[in-house]
Amino acid sequence: MDPLLLEWAGLILRWLHVIAAMAWIGTSFYFIALDASLRARPGLPPGVAGEAWQVHGGGFYRMMKYTVAPAELPERLTWFKWEAYTTWLSGFFLMIAYYYWNAELLLVDPAVRELSPVAAVIASLALLVAGYLLYEALCRSPLARSDAALAVAGSLLTVLAAWLFSQIFSGRAAIFHLGALLGTIMAANVGHVIIPNQRKAVAALIDGREPDPALGREAKQRSLHNNYLTLPVVFFMIAGHYPLVFATGRVWLVAALVLVIGFSVRHFFNARHRGEASPWWSWVVASLAVAALAWMTLPRAMAGADGEGRGATLAAQAREIVESRCVMCHAAEPVWEGIPLPPKGVRFDDPRLLRLEAWRIALQSAWTDAMPPANVTGMTAEERALLARWAASGSDR
Ligand code: HEC
Repeated sequence: MDPLLLEWAGLILRWLHVIAAMAWIGTSFYFIALDASLRARPGLPPGVAGEAWQVHGGGFYRMMKYTVAPAELPERLTWFKWEAYTTWLSGFFLMIAYYYWNAELLLVDPAVRELSPVAAVIASLALLVAGYLLYEALCRSPLARSDAALAVAGSLLTVLAAWLFSQIFSGRAAIFHLGALLGTIMAANVGHVIIPNQRKAVAALIDGREPDPALGREAKQRSLHNNYLTLPVVFFMIAGHYPLVFATGRVWLVAALVLVIGFSVRHFFNARHRGEASPWWSWVVASLAVAALAWMTLPRAMAGADGEGRGATLAAQAREIVESRCVMCHAAEPVWEGIPLPPKGVRFDDPRLLRLEAWRIALQSAWTDAMPPANVTGMTAEERALLARWAASGSDR
């Protein structure tokens, strides 16, 4: 496919994906908070379990939740599912247009595993399906009788998946796959459990039967998972832009810490919306985990970083490295096949501007090994150390 067409497809799909995800998470947060704020009071219509008043957009809303069917069902009943499906579908096609089409650069890292692009794409699809099936198996196992036991097992599965992804893909693709797996689980929870169970319950209510309570229990458990996964999944999706996260540390440890951060922050808001005493301790836990994450991903001390060379010599050596390892892609007219324009508009072909870019160069290729992608131009550890020293020196004279 024409690379420019691919670039446009990527932009439009990403736009759609972000908007759909905002709508999905927005409705999800809204209904969690609404559900928690419903209060019972005498005098509510029959079948209504609770009521909440809200003010928005110049008017008052009186929300009531029927837990059995109202005497008359309205003609129009709004279901909330397309937010989830659109998010997943746009994400799936974005994954193809971005990671699968550029598999050689973005999915594979020969330093991790020598894989052909086709093998990497097959591994990616197979692992996403396997991860989802394992989660389903956990939810249908006796473990699921306890929300807490299932949460622990599910978290361990996520951390294990992170480790496995990091043994197969580039660091960046590994952290992305974690987001893709959790996103798939969340969308499947909506499509395979929550909505079908709700349909069965509505059908039963319309027939005047008592819906099977197991249906509601199951849907509620999956909703709870989606509720707690929203913060981690978004982190994993944006982490691909932050090499300090994916290209320095251990992806499984990043995953574990992000789950702790996401779960504790969600827990805080869930408790608060239910009107319980605010569990302020969850911010302490989240802050400690953020500090641990930042500490863990600090650039490692580099061998050779205190080597010879100062000022102008150092600058000349740095320029030479960038010219031989980066400029084939990062120039006004890249010579690397399949890269028609400088990626992300980043150019290093004007040596006078190099000093201005020092920080970005070090971030991508000295403090982390995010660039060159898959180390296609064979950068050495000594070269990375030299770039780190040059960036830190702050002067070319
Ligand atoms: C094979 C081509 C190639 C080579 C060689 C290469 N890059 Fe890149 N670079 C890319 C691509 C592709 C992207 C865009 C990745 C993306 O889509 O997020 C990129 C993105 C970047 C970015 C922007 C990152 C962001 O998220 O804003 C920087 C900075 C960068 N590269 C620096 C470097 C440095 C420094 C080198 C040399 C050490 C280098 N690159 C070598 C292909 C290359």
